[in-house]
Order: sequence, then structure tokens, then C-alpha cells
Amino acid sequence: MYSSGSGSGSSNMAAAPTSVVVLDRGNNTTCTINLHGATVVSWRVNNQEQLFVSKQAVFDGKKAIRGGIPFVFPQFGSWNYGPQHGFARVIRWHVEKSPERLPSGDIEAMFCIVDNEVTRSMWNFPFRLSYRLILREKELHFNIGVYNVGKEATFSFNLLLHTYFKVPDVRRCQITGLQGCTFVDKTRDGAMYQEVRDVVTVNEYTDRVYQNTPQEHIITNVVSNRKMRIQKYNFPDTVVWNPWVEKAREIQDFGDDEYPNMICVEAGHVSAPVILLPGTAFEASEILQVM
Ligand code: BG6
Repeated sequence: MYSSGSGSGSSNMAAAPTSVVVLDRGNNTTCTINLHGATVVSWRVNNQEQLFVSKQAVFDGKKAIRGGIPFVFPQFGSWNYGPQHGFARVIRWHVEKSPERLPSGDIEAMFCIVDNEVTRSMWNFPFRLSYRLILREKELHFNIGVYNVGKEATFSFNLLLHTYFKVPDVRRCQITGLQGCTFVDKTRDGAMYQEVRDVVTVNEYTDRVYQNTPQEHIITNVVSNRKMRIQKYNFPDTVVWNPWVEKAREIQDFGDDEYPNMICVEAGHVSAPVILLPGTAFEASEILQVM
């Protein structure tokens, strides 16, 4: 299904049309991708939404969508040559393969972007980025390929899936798999610490880049008090972010009272860049599973 329509769930829709692609597995299990940034804007499992999208998200085809899963590339954080978190989340992607049912019953779709005048003005490299999603009964799979299609230049980049999980109360969530990991605390001028807790909880403004994290994290007390398993491959870092009260007020496209209802746990390759030689490819993947 490839439909043109307005962005998902916005109370603040602007005039520019957006297009969404829907993967529908049956049983009210769906995944919706907005081609603006190939942003996953909804993942429903048996009609239960798993992702947070702000009521104030803007769907104008320009701004990054506040919520869901924005695609961060080729830069994580502020950037001298273009927008924060790079251009991939703010340009229109192509549908490489429309949603198709696999023999297993799962639904697959593929999206891609290649360099163009806009990307070249910020990052002057020939590249191709492919994004494959598979919707299973209780899982969402992501496979990313970054290709250096040039013949001469090596390039380097960051990559991250900026995943906003929907939660009833962030204060009750526990994140496993971070104990012993070194992290950069962006709320404390980038000071480095080591995590001592066996489970991480969020009770204040949190913006941490955990390094060399294990392949698996579990978040407790997501929607319906279930657990969410994150499995990641070739994503050595895990970012944990919640803006809390004051930052929430500063972010225009985020409601003042919405911070308790989201937690960002983001799989990425951001502490050190990926360095890609001409003619070579980098692949990374992630699986989200409702337990
Ligand atoms: C997180 C960063 O991944 O994204 C934070 O670690 C940042 O520093 C947050 O504030 C949101 O970024 P943006 O650009 O979507 O407002």
C-alpha cells in the first residue's frame, strides 16, 4: 500500500503534502513510514501503538518529525555543514520496494536515497543509503546499507535510529545492558562517566551516549506494561534521551506535558565515525520486539 495523505497524528499539519507507506500484516499490526526522512511514524502491534509522536509534531516536509524513528545520517548532533543530526531525516526518500508479503506472512518494504544537489551542498560525496523494514507479528526489523559509490574519496559518517518509544510513565522504565559502559553525559558538558547501575532509570533531563554497549537492551514498562527488546548489530552505541520539564518547554514541536510519555533509546554508530573506502559498503541492523 502506497498512499498519499497527511502525516500521522498531527494536530499541526501544514499545507505541504506528505506521503506515507503502510506495511499491514493483519491483526491490526501495521507500520507506517513517512517518506519525509523515511521516518517510521507508527508501529502498531495488535492495535497497540509502540512509538511516541508528539501532538505538536510538524509535518511540513521540511522539519524533522518529532517522534517515531527519525533516521540520523551522516552526522549525529550539531553540524557545521547542515542541520543537526544530518540531512537524511529531512529529505524525501524513494520507495525502492513497495510493501510485499513474504512467504512467512511478514511484510517487507525498502526505501533509499542517493546523493543529489542538496546532499552534495552539505556533504560532497556520492553515496547510496538503503533501508529495509520487515514487519513481523511482534517485531520490526531494520537493515541499513550505506554504500560509498565513489571511485576516489573515502568518507566518514555517523548513523543512528532515533527511536522514540511510547511509555505510560518514563519514571517506571528500566533499561538493561548498560552497566559498566562508559558514557558521555551531554547534560554535563560532555563529561565522561561509567555506568554503575544494573538497570538505568530516567528521573531527570537525560542525554547520554553510552559506548560499546552490548547487542541487547530490554526496556521495561513500555505500553501495556510490556517489555521491549532491542537487538542491534554494528551499532556500538546506545543513546538515552528524555528532555524532561525545562527542555520540553524549549522544544517547539514537543508538548510541555509529553516528556513522561516517551523514552528515546537509540541504536547508533556515533562515538566514532564509520570510515568507508570507495566502492565499499557498511551494514547495520536492529530488531525491536514486543515481549
Ligand atoms: C538526541 C541527542 O539523540 O536527540 C540530543 O542526544 C538531542 O542531544 C535529541 O537534543 C533531539 O534532537 P533534535 O534535533 O531532534 O531536537
